[in-house]
Amino acid sequence: MVQEIQRFTLGNLTLPVKTLFTGYLMSIGLGLLMAGVQIMLTHGMADGKPGLSVDDIVYSYHGNHEGAASSKLDSKLYGSMKDNAPPEVRLQLLKWADAGAPASEWESKIKPQVDQYCAPCHANMPGLANISDKAVMDQMTKHDEGASIAALTRVSHIHLFGISFIFFFVGWIFTYATGFSPLTKAILIFTPFAFLVVDVASWWLTKLNPNFAWLVIIGGFGYSMASTVMIFSSLYQMWIEPLRTFKAKLFKK
Ligand code: HEC
Repeated sequence: MVQEIQRFTLGNLTLPVKTLFTGYLMSIGLGLLMAGVQIMLTHGMADGKPGLSVDDIVYSYHGNHEGAASSKLDSKLYGSMKDNAPPEVRLQLLKWADAGAPASEWESKIKPQVDQYCAPCHANMPGLANISDKAVMDQMTKHDEGASIAALTRVSHIHLFGISFIFFFVGWIFTYATGFSPLTKAILIFTPFAFLVVDVASWWLTKLNPNFAWLVIIGGFGYSMASTVMIFSSLYQMWIEPLRTFKAKLFKK
C-alpha cells in the first residue's frame, strides 16, 4: 500500500483546534450516553419490565397483536373491568375481540352480554364510553398498531439527517488519528453510517415482522460501539499521547 503522508495528526494540532474538537466530542459523547438512557426509559419499559429487550422493541414498533393488551377492550378486561362480568362472559368478549371483533356475532352473541353486564354503567354513566353502541365498541377493539407510518417517517428522516451530522464530524476528527491502518480507519469511519441505515431500516422491518426486532438492537449497539472507539481514541491522541511522549523525552535527557 502507498505510504500515506499525514500532515496533521491529532497530537500536533494547535491548541485552539484541539479544544474545538474536544468540546465537540465531549458533548457528542454525553449526548450518545443520554440517548442510550432515553431509549431504556421510553422503549425499555414497553413490555412492562425494566431493561431493553426484544419484546420491548416488538411492542414499540410492531404493536402487540397477541397477548393480554392487544386492544383497549383486552387491557380493560384484564385490568379494571375484570370483575364486571363472569369469567365465561369475559372470555367470550376477549375471544371475540381477538378474532377481530366480527360484526356477524355482534347482534346475536356479544351485544346481549354487553347490555346485561356492561351497559348498566357504560350506557348510563355520563362520560363513560357507551360500548353497547357498535361504533363505540369498534374503537375499543381496535388493535394497537404500533408506531404509525407517519410517526415512523418523521423519526426516520430526523434520525438520518441528525445522526449522520454527528458521525460526519466524529469521523472527520478521527481521520487525523494515527496508529490505525488506513483500512481500519476507513472501516471505523464507515461503520456508524452503515449501522445507522440498518437501525432505521429495522424499525420499518419490525413493524412488518416482529422477528426483525433484534436488528434494532444490533444497529444501535453497532454504531454506539464504533463511535465510542473513535471518540475515545481521538481524545486520547490529542491529550494523553502527547503528554506521554513529552515525558519520555524528558527522561531520556
Ligand atoms: C360498575 C360500573 C361498570 C361496569 C359494570 C363496567 N364498566 Fe367499564 N368502565 C367503568 C368505568 C368507571 C370506567 C372508566 C375507568 C377505567 O377505565 O377503569 C370504565 C372503562 C371501560 C373501558 C375503557 C373506556 C375508555 O373510553 O377508555 C372499557 C373498554 C370498558 N370499561 C369495558 C367494559 C366492559 C366490556 C364491561 C362489561 C363486561 C364493563 N366495562 C363494565 C365502569 C364500569
